[in-house]
Amino acid sequence: MKKKIAAILAVMMIVLAFAGCSSGNKKTSATIKKAGKLVIATSPDFPPFEELQGDGSVVGIEIDIMNLIAEKLGVELVIEQMDFDSVLPGIQAGKYDVGVSGISVTEKRQKNVLFTDPYCLAAQAIVVNEGSEIASKADLEGKKIAVQTGTTAETFCMDNGYDVSSYQANSDAETALVTGKVDAWVIDDLTAADMVKAYNATNEQKLVILGDAMTTEPYAFAFTFGSEELVADINKIIKDLIKDGTIASIFEKFEAPYTQPQV
Ligand code: ARG
Repeated sequence: MKKKIAAILAVMMIVLAFAGCSSGNKKTSATIKKAGKLVIATSPDFPPFEELQGDGSVVGIEIDIMNLIAEKLGVELVIEQMDFDSVLPGIQAGKYDVGVSGISVTEKRQKNVLFTDPYCLAAQAIVVNEGSEIASKADLEGKKIAVQTGTTAETFCMDNGYDVSSYQANSDAETALVTGKVDAWVIDDLTAADMVKAYNATNEQKLVILGDAMTTEPYAFAFTFGSEELVADINKIIKDLIKDGTIASIFEKFEAPYTQPQV
């Protein structure tokens, strides 16, 4: 009898511990407002969405959007910087409130985090050195390709059997291409456009973005499971910002073409 009671108590304690964990991690509008801040996790090597400035500040399309969301919630925006492959694990563990990193929604990621509705559509692009023999996706066969660790570009290239070299920072993937360590670099199209423009403006040697986009990927913001109510509130804000043209005007400010998802 005693053993039975002990066993029941043990099971109850485990159940309570789990319940405690999840309720401690989940975010609601009330917990955010009480804390007075919205803490975002970001990898600021992804212009024009998030880019680290010389003075240590981070600017970009997603930072502008997040500032508007924080303002609507009446809280301060706090930016935590990290490598891209730490963003989603940090959100999953409830360490930060929201993942903001040009994150593409995928079925696999949906098993680990809760996404808002997408606010834009993007694609993967192929970047090569000017004069490269690679002219299209078909020419990538057997070539060495640089990608950023933990990205959809990495998954896509690995799944397609390409010879992939992964780099923690996008700038290192770019350097690998210009120094000839790899033959091509696969990266999201708008970031490719921004980084290639900046590189070509200051270098003799030129980079070229190939015409054929590899995928279509919706970008959204990521939350820990259990934050459904907060995500619903933020979805309403995003919907309004899309409908009233605010998001399109933020893209315009950063000179990036905007592809709106269905709303
Ligand atoms: N959209 C791609 C993905 O979700 C790449 C995102 C990279 N973001 C960054 N801030 N470096 O995997």
